[in-house]
Amino acid sequence: MKHLRERNDEEGVQDSKVIQAVQRMAEIADKRDRVLLNNEEERKVFEEVFDRKTLFVLYSLMNKGAFSYLNGVVSSGKESRVYWGVKNSGENVAVKVYLVASSDFKRRLRYVEGDPRFKKIRRDSRGMAETWARKEFTNLKQAYDAGVRVPKPESFEGNVLVMEFIGDSNGLRAPLLLETEVKKKDYLEIMKSVKTLYSMAGLVHADLSEYNVFKYQGKNILFDFGSAVSVNHPSSEEFLKRDIQNINNFFQKRSVRVFEEQKILSHIIKNKGKWFE
Ligand SMILES: Nc1ncnc2c1ncn2[C@@H]1O[C@H](COP(=O)(O)OP(=O)(O)OP(=O)(O)O)[C@@H](O)[C@H]1O
Ligand SMILES: [Mg+2]
Repeated sequence: MKHLRERNDEEGVQDSKVIQAVQRMAEIADKRDRVLLNNEEERKVFEEVFDRKTLFVLYSLMNKGAFSYLNGVVSSGKESRVYWGVKNSGENVAVKVYLVASSDFKRRLRYVEGDPRFKKIRRDSRGMAETWARKEFTNLKQAYDAGVRVPKPESFEGNVLVMEFIGDSNGLRAPLLLETEVKKKDYLEIMKSVKTLYSMAGLVHADLSEYNVFKYQGKNILFDFGSAVSVNHPSSEEFLKRDIQNINNFFQKRSVRVFEEQKILSHIIKNKGKWFE
């Protein structure tokens, strides 16, 4: 892309049209939390999400048919914003924008470095946000193809990921595991997913907890796969152990009897597929 000063007037006009179009789209997306936008801090967050390059990425995805418009904000986290997008067909999608400005490099690097799938990574803030979107897409695809219940990945570009929306047709997301009544069946289902993820997809979630599992139509769906690493990552076992611990702690608090952590760990690791060696 040419530097702004080198552009001729026509390009400049096109440029501003693009920006206006996406900004209009972004305004629609944010109409739900207009009130919040009156708050100075929230306004800052908004500007960080929709920096110029991110607007272009959203616009490009929109042109490719990944979504036809954004209809509201699902969640505003520290590191990402998730939007409710609607496709031409009327189908809902979740559009996850990784925040460029608030990338926490040190923490993130641990989950990329050492993963044989990501040998070359950019270390600047945009580069990291883009790596994260690409990584979450790749992880979701590996998990989905292996038959683990996860949101179906649809596309990604730059720091934006588009995936299946888990929730109702009005853009209301499904409840998190934390927000539901749980039974032993849920525990077993989640542990089975963790095992399939390991043995069939060659992945460890690495950020698994009651906050990153949806309960949708009676089924548990694992999501938030940005941190997930290859089983060949040097810390994969440590991450797997922590995932099991988190899930065990949650179910124990809810009075569900759980398996001994070490037993599950060795059972899962024993099943490491040969093709991942
Ligand atoms: N596929 C999806 N369908 C519907 N809602 C989603 C989807 N993915 C994410 N969300 C919503 O966005 C929230 C944040 O998503 P996610 O956990 O992937 O990102 P995060 O970066 O960890 O954000 P946070 O810091 O808020 O946890 C989820 O808790 C959920 O409410
Ligand atoms: Mg999360």
